Amino acid sequence: MTSLTTDAIDLSDIEFWAKPEAEREAVFQFLRDQAPITFYDEILIEGFPQGPGYWALTRYADVMHVSRHPELFVSGRGGTNIGDIPQELAEFLGSIINMDDPRHKKLRGLISSGFAPKHLNQLLEQVQVRAKGVVDAVAAKGECDFVSEIAALMPLQIVCDMVGVPPSLEQSVFAQSNIILGVGDPEYVQSYEDLMGAFMTLHQMAMELGQHRLDNPTDDITSILMHAEVDGERLTVPEFASFFILLVVAGNETTRTAISHGMLALQENPDQKALWMSDFDRYAQDAVEEIVRWATPVIHFRRTATQDTEISGHPIKENEKVVMFFNSANRDERAFERPYEFDITRSPNPHVGYGGGGPHFCLGANLARREIRVMFEELFMRLPDLEITGEPARLQSSFIHGIKRMPCAFTPNG
Ligand code: HEM
Repeated sequence: MTSLTTDAIDLSDIEFWAKPEAEREAVFQFLRDQAPITFYDEILIEGFPQGPGYWALTRYADVMHVSRHPELFVSGRGGTNIGDIPQELAEFLGSIINMDDPRHKKLRGLISSGFAPKHLNQLLEQVQVRAKGVVDAVAAKGECDFVSEIAALMPLQIVCDMVGVPPSLEQSVFAQSNIILGVGDPEYVQSYEDLMGAFMTLHQMAMELGQHRLDNPTDDITSILMHAEVDGERLTVPEFASFFILLVVAGNETTRTAISHGMLALQENPDQKALWMSDFDRYAQDAVEEIVRWATPVIHFRRTATQDTEISGHPIKENEKVVMFFNSANRDERAFERPYEFDITRSPNPHVGYGGGGPHFCLGANLARREIRVMFEELFMRLPDLEITGEPARLQSSFIHGIKRMPCAFTPNG
């Protein structure tokens, strides 16, 4: 800790994101205390334009300020990842996450109808059925990979159900979203072509599905989106395709990551696991929030200033990029007591795992909460002695706090 200096820290260095968790946590703690708003150059990524750099926000209050002032900090000037969206990817990434009101609001309204109570209730029933199916498939084996065989499957199946992807294509969705969110990790992405290929595959899948639902509507989100009108106009099939990509990527990787980190945290804190298992329903709501704070599956999102302004007295110029580090905000001692303790009874728990409460606040938060809760209930009931038996393989990424693989073992059941 004492050897840290601001000059020695580079959040843009992809090697930084391969360092052990504790080392990274120490760096963010140092930044929060000593240099809470620091400027970094952007790394040059093949295929992406070289950007002008960005201000890294590491304190909770500053992340909240930016999230909640969309008139000052927008998503539509180049997007919400650190590098601006390259022209060739604009078609795939032109969805609501990279838009501002009023168009964002209108399109978000459309997609929200797929999360409205009627649809959500059906989905929530499906969550139960899918979670049971996932555990059924591994229960007799006594060991498996926790990430791909447990944590990933149910969120993947649910999001595929939502948009109408048939089971035969689920593994392809899994593989493509691993690539899209795996930028930075050589296991998933070695070249710009890998990334383009993943986008093209999902895009093609969406175009076929969208066209099919246009002609044969059902009650899935794809049918809703293909038949809805915004400003008197239907969404075009390519516009729908970018929604599709956002949903399938946002809806599967994040919840998987929360469940994987949640399992790890419960194992590392056996008192917390025993407490939750002693009365599942009593602790479930707070436990699920704490898992999302602890995991912070999405590490950052970026905004761009619309005018000269300031953040906590620090001047920010028009068009400068600001990056909200949710991981750091969720460990900020100024906002949380004992932030480095995993406490399933933490309440209140105003974490920013789903964003800081602005117009882009996660649309799937209620679904994700249910998925996490139901998965742990099923695991505690059916595989109560499940243990992680080896080191997790962590994703090298400044964007997703992912776990790629994690072996586990349990007493075979059924
Ligand atoms: C634990 C699981 C999840 C986490 C941690 C998470 C996190 C986030 C974050 C941080 C944002 C951006 C918030 C902001 O900029 O203010 C977001 C947006 C979004 N999320 Fe999630 N998410 C999760 C699950 C899901 C699920 C299951 C779905 C859908 C099936 C989903 C769909 C979306 C969509 C559509 C947006 C864009 C909303 C907009 O731009 O208006 N998310 N999520």
